[in-house]
Amino acid sequence: MSIGIIGSGNIGSAFARALAKAGIPAIIANSRGPASLATLEAELRPFIKAGTPEEAASADIVLVAVNWSKLPQALRDLPDWNGRVVIDANNPIEAPLFKPVDLGGRVSSEVFAGLVPGARVVKAFNHLQAHLVSSDPAAEGGRRVLFYSGDDAAAKADVGALIGQLGFFGIDLGDLVTGGRLAQFPGGPLPTLNLVRFG
Ligand SMILES: NC(=O)c1ccc[n+]([C@@H]2O[C@H](COP(=O)([O-])OP(=O)(O)OC[C@H]3O[C@@H](n4cnc5c(N)ncnc54)[C@H](OP(=O)(O)O)[C@@H]3O)[C@@H](O)[C@H]2O)c1
Repeated sequence: MSIGIIGSGNIGSAFARALAKAGIPAIIANSRGPASLATLEAELRPFIKAGTPEEAASADIVLVAVNWSKLPQALRDLPDWNGRVVIDANNPIEAPLFKPVDLGGRVSSEVFAGLVPGARVVKAFNHLQAHLVSSDPAAEGGRRVLFYSGDDAAAKADVGALIGQLGFFGIDLGDLVTGGRLAQFPGGPLPTLNLVRFG
């Protein structure tokens, strides 16, 4: 399956590093264009290639890691999602103020899903700090846990398999609202916990 990444900051580049370590190719994009990603591309050669958001969005699985307030603009002019899998790695809070966004009681992934109509959304890669996504998932002698959730069983199976390929231990938290609430930062009980599965 092809993989695209929209957002090349802390989380997007950490995910790209994890993919490259596992020998999995992907296209990564940001708002400034492929030339601005030359250094990252050189570091992660030959697996990670810079592209446009449109190119990244055309992959089978697309991870989106963009600042919350910039998501509408980042996702506005992309081709139809046509059932492709989109990983929501985003949290409704932003530097430098770190003031939680008022979601009107909704889970952030429900709001995110409204920005990618026709996509099968899986929430994942949002609940750990970026350095824990890019560093060795076996560092503590087990496998670091990554949670994921979503409404589409096949999409979740794809993302769960990818999490396993990267060396993490994936735990399915259920549907998007249930799992999204548990893993949401801020507010959920699970974010920032660096959990390890032994055995
Ligand atoms: N930092 C963490 O440890 C962490 C952990 C879990 C989840 N998250 C979540 O992940 C998301 C990204 O966080 P981050 O820390 O990685 O942010 P970041 O370092 O500020 O990176 C944001 C990225 O979004 C890109 N972007 C902004 N507007 C865009 C547009 N219109 N089109 C395409 N790309 C655009 C930026 O590209 P340009 O620089 O070219 O504008 C940049 O590469 C946030 O929702 C955050 O809550 C972060």
